[in-house]
Amino acid sequence: MPTPTIEWVDGRVRLIDQTLLPNEFKQIYCDDVGAVWEAIKMLRVRGAPAIGVAAALGTVLGVWNSTAESFQEFEVELNRVTDYLATSRPTAVNLFWALDRMKRTANEYQDVEICVLKQHLLQEALAIIVEDQQMCRSIGRYGAELIDDGDTILTHCNAGGLATSDYGTALAVMFAAHDDGKHIHVYADETRPLLQGARLTTWELMNAGIGVTLICDSMAAQVMKEGRIQRVVVGADRIAANGDTANKIGTYSVAVLAHRHQIPFYVAAPTSTLDFSLATGDLIPIEERGAEEITEGFGKRTAPDGVEVYSPAFDVTPADLVTAIVTEKGIVGPPFDRNLKRIASS
Ligand code: MRU
Repeated sequence: MPTPTIEWVDGRVRLIDQTLLPNEFKQIYCDDVGAVWEAIKMLRVRGAPAIGVAAALGTVLGVWNSTAESFQEFEVELNRVTDYLATSRPTAVNLFWALDRMKRTANEYQDVEICVLKQHLLQEALAIIVEDQQMCRSIGRYGAELIDDGDTILTHCNAGGLATSDYGTALAVMFAAHDDGKHIHVYADETRPLLQGARLTTWELMNAGIGVTLICDSMAAQVMKEGRIQRVVVGADRIAANGDTANKIGTYSVAVLAHRHQIPFYVAAPTSTLDFSLATGDLIPIEERGAEEITEGFGKRTAPDGVEVYSPAFDVTPADLVTAIVTEKGIVGPPFDRNLKRIASS
């Protein structure tokens, strides 16, 4: 991203308001933890790794003006802030991973003065950003090996620069293949109901000069049947110990379709998205969002008043439909329960 998705600027958090894209490119400032919480909740900042960064920077903001005089007092405030941020969105594990990391850092430095401890927390949040950037590059490098010159790739939702601190996870694979001189083309599912594919993925790919064709989610089957797709690459919000993968609602359908058409289905995600505390994807908490995102998305009423709505924001693709998972440490194939643990500890 030429402009960082999210960053720390002069004691404030600055982020691209993704709800306005592609019509308006606007950076907004968050001055307190409440504003960061709202930005995560409303998807102004979104995508698992970027949510993790927002949680870390939000934690810093939340304790920055603390007047605590002892670590014990400070820790009470810190826990209040992290517990609050943890309520913003439930599915992307990177949020909880980042909050845990901030709490661990505070514990490590519990013997220093509070003003110094705050600086350590800021440094930790900035370190998460740098690691996130390196992670994207590494996923891109590994993932590009899976892409052949001439491939057309289908993706769902947005796992690009806007979802991370650099150039994404799933889209990193495409950016890196393109940088390698491979001629690729991308089909982007529009990704109902919030249209991250239509609004964000096409925008990023067009800016990068990569050919992209937008389709409605319901067109993927036909497009695959017509032989237009050689690979599917998607991101992830949480991957259970057995490889079951939560990602944006509609991903599971794409995986089923890819299986039917014998198209490799790849998940690109950092090891911070792995959740070994959950044995299977059945245990992954799935966010439910408001009915209005379906009935009057983007300001236009498209369903009768009072209609009953169910709106899970994510689904879980069973591991047996995943060909491989591309992490920053390498490519992992089945059996995922064994191989994911091995790569995480490498
Ligand atoms: O609801 P969103 O827009 O936060 O959902 C994002 C996704 O599902 C992404 O595919 C996932 O977070 C991976 S981002 C690298």
